[in-house]
Amino acid sequence: LKVVLAYSGGLDTSIILKWLQTEYDAEVVTFTADLGQGEEVEPARRKAELLGVKPENIFIDDLREEFVRDFVFPMFRANTVYEGQYLLGTSIARPLIAKRQIEIARQVGADAVCHGATGKGNDQVRFELGYYALEPDIRVIAPWREWQFASREQLIDFAEKNQIPISKDKRGESPFSIDANLLHSSSEGKVLEDPAQEAPEYVHQRTISPEEAPDQPTIVTIGFEKGDPVSIDGEALSPAALLTKLNQLGHDNGIGRLDLVENRFVGMKSRGVYETPGGSILLPAHRGIESITLDGGAMHLKDELMPRYAKLIYNGFWFSPEREMLQALIDKSQEHVTGTVTMKLYKGNATVIGRESAHSLYDEDLVTFEEGSGSYDQRDAAGFIKLNALRLRIAAQREKKLAR
Ligand code: ARG
Ligand code: SIN
Repeated sequence: LKVVLAYSGGLDTSIILKWLQTEYDAEVVTFTADLGQGEEVEPARRKAELLGVKPENIFIDDLREEFVRDFVFPMFRANTVYEGQYLLGTSIARPLIAKRQIEIARQVGADAVCHGATGKGNDQVRFELGYYALEPDIRVIAPWREWQFASREQLIDFAEKNQIPISKDKRGESPFSIDANLLHSSSEGKVLEDPAQEAPEYVHQRTISPEEAPDQPTIVTIGFEKGDPVSIDGEALSPAALLTKLNQLGHDNGIGRLDLVENRFVGMKSRGVYETPGGSILLPAHRGIESITLDGGAMHLKDELMPRYAKLIYNGFWFSPEREMLQALIDKSQEHVTGTVTMKLYKGNATVIGRESAHSLYDEDLVTFEEGSGSYDQRDAAGFIKLNALRLRIAAQREKKLAR
């Protein structure tokens, strides 16, 4: 059995690696992605080698540009939030990992793919729906749903017996579980499990608290082209470089913290603490440029569809016909979403303070309180209101008649 493992280099996936070798007698191929999690990926190579993985079976890819360009930005075109608040930082990264794992499986002629998500969460669903959508007959191994280990202790025991290096802090229970990439960091579990208790400050990794943020606002201008951000303060930046810069600005101004109890696809509620510094600037900025460049009907339609699009991504259906249909609609809406938005960043807030576009639909002459041009005749409004009122009046007349 040859299996491609999504390998972070951490303790859990190292245990999985060893377990695949011992339990399945498998030839393990590791895949480690740099998605901007802020951790070095090269140590994963050394660890994999140490655990007996052949050098040609170790894959390490920098996927940051692809992640932001082909996953994060398309999602932001829709102003996507799940359950009103979550910017889907983990959800949107899973399809890319699944896609690359399948590509590697094909390249090396592997029979199976394997991930380290538990049997209780969303991530297992996202990985596996991705695998099956791209390779219908692939074999999937999900150790957390299979193995006999019943406690953290037994896992550590297995690690020790197999000479898997364990960092000191991992020997005890780690205080919470983290997933990170260029878009966000999520923290769940352990000290966060009681939703009545405020998350301790040390949970936060990539933002200072709004209370600590500077007393002076930061003003920044973001340039958009067809719905995607392309520049900051006039400087053209690649997708990953741009998001990195927004993350820094968000960090410095305490922007993008979220404490949320959400509904998992598998049915349970879970509490997460998320930090999405750059994304929390980008979202209102994108709405800002849309506000002057998007037709009102188009805007309202995409706003109605957005929760469904968000749910598809949350539930792992990125590679589905209906997500692609919605994406085509969303992308079409962005044709004229080009221009610049000026944002004020201040103590946890990212506020639009100005927008400009050569594609603007905003007509100052039309909207002005002063005398405007001839294209709008105020007298037309009387008939407009009268016909819209017709059925309301008929209903009110019935009320009156029945009350008599
Ligand atoms: N609850 C979030 C989501 O479903 C974050 C999941 C974090 N995953 C993890 N393996 N730590 O998208
Ligand atoms: C996990 O269960 O592996 C993490 C949480 C999730 O997938 O929702």
